[in-house]
Amino acid sequence: MPIGVRIRDLRKVYVSSPPSAAQASGSSLIGTPGPRGTSKAEVVALGGISLDIEAGEIFGLLGPNGAGKSTTVGILTTRVRPTAGRAWIGDHDVWEDQVAVRRLIGVVPQRPNLDFALTAREILTFHGAYFGLSSAAREARATALLEEFRIADRADQMVRGFSGGMMQRLSIARALMHDPTVLFLDEPSAGLDPQTRLLLWDIVRDYNRQGKTIVITTHNMEEADALCHRVAILDHGRVIALGTPAALKASIPGGYLLRLRFAKHTPDLLARLQALPGVREVRPQDTTGAHIYADRGGSLIPEVASLAVAGGAELLDVHISEPSLENLFLHHTGRSLRD
Ligand SMILES: Nc1ncnc2c1ncn2[C@@H]1O[C@H](COP(=O)(O)OP(=O)(O)O)[C@@H](O)[C@H]1O
Ligand SMILES: [Mg+2]
Repeated sequence: MPIGVRIRDLRKVYVSSPPSAAQASGSSLIGTPGPRGTSKAEVVALGGISLDIEAGEIFGLLGPNGAGKSTTVGILTTRVRPTAGRAWIGDHDVWEDQVAVRRLIGVVPQRPNLDFALTAREILTFHGAYFGLSSAAREARATALLEEFRIADRADQMVRGFSGGMMQRLSIARALMHDPTVLFLDEPSAGLDPQTRLLLWDIVRDYNRQGKTIVITTHNMEEADALCHRVAILDHGRVIALGTPAALKASIPGGYLLRLRFAKHTPDLLARLQALPGVREVRPQDTTGAHIYADRGGSLIPEVASLAVAGGAELLDVHISEPSLENLFLHHTGRSLRD
């Protein structure tokens, strides 16, 4: 039976020394004096998040680097201790009931942690043995997974010489060895070539059709859009938007985003742009740029261009995008997901 994931008021504050903390992006640093005069910095990785991931859904955690995605996965998979708040896999509290939780979950970490001195098949069968599969069961399952993930021809070679994409596939196969009910994939497609990414999406969809719950993190909005039933958009350790990709995209004013660059814009020009039919919102960007949220895209360009000519402001660059999760993130935060 599929089971869900519940998260309530989850907070995580890392205490780390200044050099690494100074490199942290997208999080709040709070300087506190440490022992013997050394100063320690606290990194608020999660600022109190609550989510209900339904049994049997593909749920996406979407956000830029440093948003808190891996920390969330770390807590849900018993690897990171929360500073406050609680989380459950089904009825099991992840921190209080770690043994039961680990049996229910499969984890594909952001960085593959495979033993280079083992063969691909050994990595799978050792994992199966750890989870108590019989010798026959783990050999059969390993063979099937090696086949499905297209690593059968390298099954008995050591992982040392594998490409990044092959290691990633093997890492996912390992996570599936004990047939987990909830599968966590932390940025599984980062660094994958487009073909392997599509294979990954097929694998995720197939596994989901077997009634499994899947939690996937990504900073790639196309991936979230294509694969996930629902998405939570994280930024600075908080959920800033939650819903189906379609509903999230529909929540952007107008949907279309026109990114314009003029030689220089004027308040008068911005006001005239705002008055064009279908324009919902005009946001100036420094002295030359403007973002327009509108109900239409390309058909606005001639009107924008003639307003620019009339106002003596040359239109230098136009970029139109259709409704996307990227636009939603930009609208909420003023930043691009890719920054
Ligand atoms: N072990 C750690 N020690 C100190 N800070 C950390 C540690 N892990 C993550 N952080 C910081 O917490 C914030 C969230 O990180 P993370 O959860 O890895 O985000 P994401 O996976 O979305 O990129 C970042 O600022 C990161 O630098
Ligand atoms: Mg991460």
